[in-house]
Amino acid sequence: MAALDDEYRRLVEEAGLPPEALPSNAFFSNAVEHELNRAMAEQHVSAEKASDPIQVDWDGDWNTLSSIPAGHLDGNTLQACVAQRLAAGAKLAPMPIAVLISGTGTNLQAIIDAIAAGSLNAEIKLVVASRPDAAGLKRAEAAGLQTLTLSKDIYSDPIVADEVIATELYRAGVAYVIMAGYMRKVHPPILATFPERVINLHPALLPSFRGLDAIVQAYERGVKVAGITIHIANAAYDQGPILAQKAIMVEETWTLEQLEDAIHALEHTLYPELIQILSEGRVKVLPDLRVAIAPVRA
Ligand code: GRF
Repeated sequence: MAALDDEYRRLVEEAGLPPEALPSNAFFSNAVEHELNRAMAEQHVSAEKASDPIQVDWDGDWNTLSSIPAGHLDGNTLQACVAQRLAAGAKLAPMPIAVLISGTGTNLQAIIDAIAAGSLNAEIKLVVASRPDAAGLKRAEAAGLQTLTLSKDIYSDPIVADEVIATELYRAGVAYVIMAGYMRKVHPPILATFPERVINLHPALLPSFRGLDAIVQAYERGVKVAGITIHIANAAYDQGPILAQKAIMVEETWTLEQLEDAIHALEHTLYPELIQILSEGRVKVLPDLRVAIAPVRA
């Protein structure tokens, strides 16, 4: 891992990238490889884990999340525990989350801003970037957030990359993994460690316009109504349970850029709102994959 660290630094320097492209010192230490192996061996994080029955007693204290064996707390159980605690009159600490980015990070910024404004009761424990030149890393740095950057050049095997990410997310004790413009697929190491706890944002009204360049696809198709979808990420790409959607009417005079601006504006309000709903334990995925959102507690 030390050699990898040096190699990484060399690549970042050669590419003339800013210092924030370098991983935080806490990562890529000599201990990480050992920790990774230990965590994977002890917690048996694997693709099969996802289908295991989830049996866990969680007391609703965010600090104890990383003591629950990886993969043993699914989204519905977590939501039910939170709801129970709140119903019993408890005041919950900010919900720990991680945000995964690849690009400009405007959604990361919206989440940072909502937390600062007090409208989102969450705490960003870690920002993971799939590219060292992701501009969003600057936003993370400005907000004093811990970052982890994995480049495709270094971790060409996506499963290995996701094992590293899953381990660090687990150690950080996050309740939810929030993908915000993350351009890599997430694989079993992450999905199985956080069953139904990985959330994705898609800039179209799913199931229309799946995959890449969704806004361009919608624009070129001449849609009259466009919108965004927030869903739970699972093995079926862009097909997980839908948590929230928001639509807008598309003006005939709009350029692609105007549609993009309108879509991003929707994202920046709906994503923090949905994460707040998760922090209030109001989400339940039903057996038919519909999602029920409980009303705000009186
Ligand atoms: C967003 O439109 C998101 O829906 C898509 O990528 C974009 C990310 O933007 N998956 P940003 O990095 O948050 O600015």
